[in-house]
Amino acid sequence: MSWQEHLQKQHVDRANANHWRTRLTLDSAQTAVVTIDGQQYDNFCSNDYLGLANDPRLIAAAQTAAGELGVGSGASHLICGHQTPHQQLELALASFMDAEQALVFPCGYMANLSIPQAFLGRDDCVLQDKLNHASLIDAGRACDAKLKRYAHNDPDAAQGMLEKQTSGRTMIMTDGVFSMDGDVAPLSALKRIADQHDSLLVIDEAHGFGVIGDGRGSAAQAGVPPAGNVLLMGTLGKAAGSFGAFVAGDAVLIEHLIQFGRTYTYTTALPPHVAATSLAAVDIIAQQTSLRDKLNDNLRHFKTRLSEHAPKLAARLMPSATPIQPLLVGDEQTALAASGLLREQGILVLAIRPPTVPAGSSRLRFTITAAHEHSHINRLVDVLASEAMESVMAPSFVSNTSHQ
Ligand SMILES: Cc1ncc(COP(=O)(O)O)c(C=O)c1O
Repeated sequence: MSWQEHLQKQHVDRANANHWRTRLTLDSAQTAVVTIDGQQYDNFCSNDYLGLANDPRLIAAAQTAAGELGVGSGASHLICGHQTPHQQLELALASFMDAEQALVFPCGYMANLSIPQAFLGRDDCVLQDKLNHASLIDAGRACDAKLKRYAHNDPDAAQGMLEKQTSGRTMIMTDGVFSMDGDVAPLSALKRIADQHDSLLVIDEAHGFGVIGDGRGSAAQAGVPPAGNVLLMGTLGKAAGSFGAFVAGDAVLIEHLIQFGRTYTYTTALPPHVAATSLAAVDIIAQQTSLRDKLNDNLRHFKTRLSEHAPKLAARLMPSATPIQPLLVGDEQTALAASGLLREQGILVLAIRPPTVPAGSSRLRFTITAAHEHSHINRLVDVLASEAMESVMAPSFVSNTSHQ
């Protein structure tokens, strides 16, 4: 079979399974209302939870740093790419997160890839929640250690696996806030288990940093600081509105990552103006509560209004107290049709389908942000409560009554 035939078959299979994905090109800034092909859409699928991606304070920080330091770092951190904004960002993150040290990575995916690779070897084992983000799973697959996956949010299952692991070192990796479900990991139970088994506990706060509690995320809220055997990975491209990521923890662990983390060592450092932008964002996240207050108010408004106007759909919201509000649909066709109807009405919400989520659990994943006004949310709920949406969703109510 030629390459062309080989790829064509995979493409046809993926398209037939309704898994083919296409990209949208936004002509506007990333904010509550975006423009695609000249058409405006209320945006309910961005991870810019605090609306910082288009904040004038971040833009000014980027412009000033670009003016002073240019737009390229020119080298990896261990050659000569580590510049003042990177250093300042690491100090600010360590201070805010109450960690001995923080290390800035180009992105969360790369930070996650380095962690098991740097700490675990052939005789070791990494345990992961079954619903962990792909970057964690890939990190588990890419390292030399054995990867085991425990049932979602089931610390007893993790404990059972650790008890069977009689030799080697172990690491537990979990999303803090699960990216496609919006629920939160049982972090204090996982910490207890990690302590009992001398494991490292790695918490991915991609969707918790800046948002949950006082902004330090789900781990801080659960009383699990990045100290001792706990490493915390946070991203800067979501609530921080910028780009990049960091790992926070005790100095001995962070220094180990600097020495042994391959995706830290063998890549160019973030451009300095991007680090300066993130620094401005961390300052806002640490000092100001107004954006988080607005986000939480919008979240309450969404849930209340949906319960009042579309109770059948409100009952389909997955249990989540975070800005990730997935509405379980079930089959892919219905999820696509619902997303299409919203799109026709000027609302952007993507259908999340396999392989991102398990088969039969396709969903509309609404993300609520501080950039929304109540009027955006009201418009969204009006469409969800419409007769047109009722008929689109009808097949899923027949096939999925257990979720109602
Ligand atoms: C839970 C989680 N971890 C890690 C990442 C990767 O972060 P980044 O986008 O900075 O690579 C993402 C999303 O992109 C995520 O949702």
